[in-house]
Amino acid sequence: MKELLNVAGVSKHFAMGGLFSRDVVHAVSDVSFALSADTAEIFTIIGESGSGKTTLARMILGLETPNSGAITFDGQEVSDSLSRSQRLAFMKRLQPVFQNPFEAFNPLKQVDGYLRSTAQTLLGVTEPDQIDAAMDSALQKVGLSLREIAGRYAHELSGGQLQRVAIARALIPEPALLIADEPVSMVDASLRMSIVNLLRDLRDTFGVSVIYITHDLATAYYISDRIMIMQQGHVVEMGPAKPILEQPEHPYSQLLKASVLSTENAGQTSLQPADRGIAQAAWEQAGAGHLLEGEGGRWVRR
Ligand SMILES: Nc1ncnc2c1ncn2[C@@H]1O[C@H](COP(=O)(O)OP(=O)(O)O)[C@@H](O)[C@H]1O
Ligand SMILES: [Mg+2]
Repeated sequence: MKELLNVAGVSKHFAMGGLFSRDVVHAVSDVSFALSADTAEIFTIIGESGSGKTTLARMILGLETPNSGAITFDGQEVSDSLSRSQRLAFMKRLQPVFQNPFEAFNPLKQVDGYLRSTAQTLLGVTEPDQIDAAMDSALQKVGLSLREIAGRYAHELSGGQLQRVAIARALIPEPALLIADEPVSMVDASLRMSIVNLLRDLRDTFGVSVIYITHDLATAYYISDRIMIMQQGHVVEMGPAKPILEQPEHPYSQLLKASVLSTENAGQTSLQPADRGIAQAAWEQAGAGHLLEGEGGRWVRR
């Protein structure tokens, strides 16, 4: 398999509380997975707040350097010390979509300005017609058009529309991979599925792979090809999405699913305090364990 992305034994810790403190947060511990360059897929990373998802995404984007392990994209090592031209080439192929579109757009700037500067920087186009065409083409892919958003400010758009604009901006260079870090958690519940389905359409229609980061099993179920469940920086279970979501094997995955399904927690997207003790117990009982390969390409920490 020709690899688009390879994450090999990657760990990241942060020193806490000053230079001479020994307190360390193990944000990401020994995570490995790979994405093929031949088939587009949605690879979902699920975990509660603090499980290391964003840290992992930032390392893949070259915004954070692993303490150990290595990440390669298009066969080249990802690092925070790329030259400007290397960095631009990398950003053409790999684009982020962040959690809060209202933070991603300056309220005093018209939103099309962001798309325009992305087209200029990453595509190197300079003619106004070419720039408009690139912007419109990306906006069409997310169900919008340049006419609809030209001259608008972030506060004039809904969270769902603004997240579509953010995704359109990411699509301008026609990247091979999007990393979408909790892209729907700030979007109204009624619009969430439409954004999630948009990611699926991008995969199916334009062959874009997506690393979809979420704490929400329900949306993951609809669109994921593979999932990776993280607890406290470790992968506890990983493999084909449907079988894992239907019959999770790791105690923590089972707990997440039970928590989502119980009517008491309807609408909740994370564990209830009462479940938290159980999660911790599941973790301690399993010890950190080892990620072992089981049937059907499923990996479970035991
Ligand atoms: N820059 C940082 N400095 C110190 N600790 C950090 C930093 N970034 C993340 N962490 C810690 O690493 C852990 C994982 O955080 P994060 O990757 O943001 O998780 P998630 O995205 O799953 O919520 C948390 O305990 C968080 O407090
Ligand atoms: Mg996060």
